[in-house]
Amino acid sequence: MPIILTPITRRQFLRSSLASGSLAMMTSHALADVGSDHVGVDSNRLALLADTHISADGNRVYPGTKWPDSPVKESEHESVHIANCLIQTVKRVIALKPRPAHLIINGDCTFGRGSEAEYEQFLKLVEPLRIAGITVHVTIGNHDNRQNLWKLIPWLKEEHMGVQADVIELSHANLILLDSGNGVLGDEQLNWLVSQLDARPYKPALIFSHFNPYPNRGVRPIHGMRDGASLLKVLAERKHAKAYFYGHTHEWQHDQRDHLQLINQPAVSYYFGKGHAHGWVDMKLTAMSADLELNCINRNHPQHGDRRQVPLKKL
Ligand SMILES: [Fe+2]
Repeated sequence: MPIILTPITRRQFLRSSLASGSLAMMTSHALADVGSDHVGVDSNRLALLADTHISADGNRVYPGTKWPDSPVKESEHESVHIANCLIQTVKRVIALKPRPAHLIINGDCTFGRGSEAEYEQFLKLVEPLRIAGITVHVTIGNHDNRQNLWKLIPWLKEEHMGVQADVIELSHANLILLDSGNGVLGDEQLNWLVSQLDARPYKPALIFSHFNPYPNRGVRPIHGMRDGASLLKVLAERKHAKAYFYGHTHEWQHDQRDHLQLINQPAVSYYFGKGHAHGWVDMKLTAMSADLELNCINRNHPQHGDRRQVPLKKL
C-alpha cells in the first residue's frame, strides 16, 4: 500500500534554497513544476536514472554518438539537449501517481569532471524532486567529483570509507549503493559490501554502482571496473543478492548469471548508439519481484514501456 508522507512545503523549500544560496540559480521553469499539495508517495516505488551528464551550460547540446572510432559518419551524429532530458524526466517522475519515494541517479551526474558550476546546474534541476517529497540518492561516476558534490549539495552526501556509499532499507529489499567512480571498488569497499550483505541475509538485496562489471557487449567498447570479477564473485556467493544495476555504457541491456540479474541502465541524456533508447526506469517492489519499466524521453521510441522483472522470492 502507498504510504502518505508529508512533502516539504514551498515555503520550507524557498527558505532552504535561500539559506543555501541556490534560489538565484533556480529557473521559473523549475519552480513552476513544484507542487505544494500533499501527494501519495509509494515507499516501494523508485525512479532509476543514470548518466544525466549535466553541463554548466544549461543549453548544451551534444552529439552523443561521437567518440574516437565511432562508427557513425561525421554528418550523421544525433544531438541531444542535455538539460532538457533531465527536466522532462523530473516532470514525469513528479507526475507519477503515486510518486516514488526514492530516486537514484547511478553516476555521472555531470558532463565534464564534476565542477562546482556543473553541480550548481544539476542542483537546480533535481531540487524540485525534494519539494515533491522524493528522496534523491546518487552514486559516483567517472565524470563526478565527490568533494564538489558534497560541498555543493551536502544533502546528497553519504560518506563511508571516504567514498559515497549507502544502504537503503526498504520493506521488500535492501538497496546497497557503491562508489566505483575511480573505475574500481577496491578491497575496503568490497569488504564493506560483504559485511552489509551478510548482516542482512534474509531480505533480497539490489546493488547499484556506476561501472559495468565486465566489458560492454554493446555498441561502444568499454572495459568496465577493474575489479568487476571480484564484485561478481561476492554477489554470486550470496543468493540474496538479486541484481546489480549499473550505468556508464549509456545503453539499456539486461543479462543474467545464475541467480544474479544484471541491469544496464540507459543514460538519461545522450546515448552512444544511433537511435538507442535514453530515459529512466520506473521500479516497483513487491515481495515477489522488482518490476522494471523503461520510460524513454522519446515516448515514440520502440523500447518505450519495455519491461524486465527481477525475482525476489526464494531466499
Ligand atoms: Fe556516462
